[in-house]
Amino acid sequence: MNPFQSVFEAIGEEKIKELVSYFYQEVETIPELRKLYPEDLAPAERRLYLFLLQVFGGPQTYSEERGHPRLRMRHFNWEIDGKMRNHWINAMISSMDKLDLDPNVRELMLNYFIKVANHMINHE
Ligand code: HEM
Repeated sequence: MNPFQSVFEAIGEEKIKELVSYFYQEVETIPELRKLYPEDLAPAERRLYLFLLQVFGGPQTYSEERGHPRLRMRHFNWEIDGKMRNHWINAMISSMDKLDLDPNVRELMLNYFIKVANHMINHE
């Protein structure tokens, strides 16, 4: 089993929902990042929430609604350089800090986010 899939069992749906909600509150405070997203953040919030539920071992609703994630390809719409990656990761770290996470689970999640965020870079 993918080790990230134990996250859902450890923290559950509600914490993932809170995480994503905090994340988009953070996005609102970082203009460079905010400008990439549509005005209404609610649909984006739902997509990230369903995606993370799936990745972390919960229900597969994301793929039922959106098909194969093809995340890197979906991110080609935006120029993502190292700075933008850092904005995203910083927003996620601040959001994780607002949850009372077990340190082992936090490390697992952070490793996952860093790995995927690096993979999204498509611009120098
Ligand atoms: C590296 C910096 C990143 C930037 C600048 C970025 C930016 C964006 C933007 C602007 C969207 C469109 C919002 C929407 O309408 O759904 C989006 C979608 C999405 N992002 Fe990212 N993202 C980044 C990294 C990540 C990472 C690390 C993950 C996963 C861990 C992720 C997961 C997603 C998902 C699941 C969607 C929705 C895809 C869909 O179904 O259409 N992103 N991202």
